[in-house]
Amino acid sequence: MKTNEFLKQLRHDFARQQLSKNDVLNNPFEQFKSWLDEAVEAQVNEPIATTIATVSKYGQPSARIVYIREITENGFVFFTNYLSKKGVDISANPKGCMNLFWPELERQIRIEGIIEKVPHDVSDAYFADRPKASQIGAHASRQSQPIASRKELEERIHELTNKYNDEPVPRPSNWGGYILVPHHFEFWQGRPNRLHDRVAYNKDDDSWKIVRLNP
Ligand SMILES: Cc1cc2nc3c(=O)[nH]c(=O)nc-3n(C[C@H](O)[C@H](O)[C@H](O)COP(=O)(O)O)c2cc1C
Repeated sequence: MKTNEFLKQLRHDFARQQLSKNDVLNNPFEQFKSWLDEAVEAQVNEPIATTIATVSKYGQPSARIVYIREITENGFVFFTNYLSKKGVDISANPKGCMNLFWPELERQIRIEGIIEKVPHDVSDAYFADRPKASQIGAHASRQSQPIASRKELEERIHELTNKYNDEPVPRPSNWGGYILVPHHFEFWQGRPNRLHDRVAYNKDDDSWKIVRLNP
């Protein structure tokens, strides 16, 4: 089939479940965790992989996938290189948005907020727990910068592996965690005929206001 025909004809009718304002928990973090539990239970592929969108200092959005590694009472933590494209964006503009899609459950979640670095000791503890090869990879990769060849990267890995042969690998100062502190959540449940259920939470002072949205 030609690509454009395929794109026009692909249809998926969502019909598994429903969502109403009465079904959701008052706290959106608890709601997220209950949906995540269901995603894990349903063996959703990569349930903790989220798109994270950032915006450059020129107003150009970009997005990529990261793993959510911790959920605190304040937000969603992920780890990366602070000098990567996303890191450079965040230092110029801390607004960010996560988006998760769990096709097996016909669910999507959007989380908008402000991104901050986590404290050093949180990054240190997470880094110390990673496998040694990942720790060395964090040192070797100048994430998002051009590199001449794969060989160059492999040589850097080789050198670092020798260097840290018998020693613990310290966390690079340009590698660590960010936390997205949300002020908006949206929980989306696919429904037949594109009449999807959407329930959003908006932070108002210190409390969460829940609204249903048009599909
Ligand atoms: C499933 C999956 C999980 C990923 N997890 C991470 C992660 O936790 N941290 C990270 O820095 N990159 C992760 N990546 C790679 C990023 O998508 C991205 O390529 C990288 O962070 C560079 O992004 P940037 O150039 O926009 O900064 C992951 C990619 C995939 C597909």
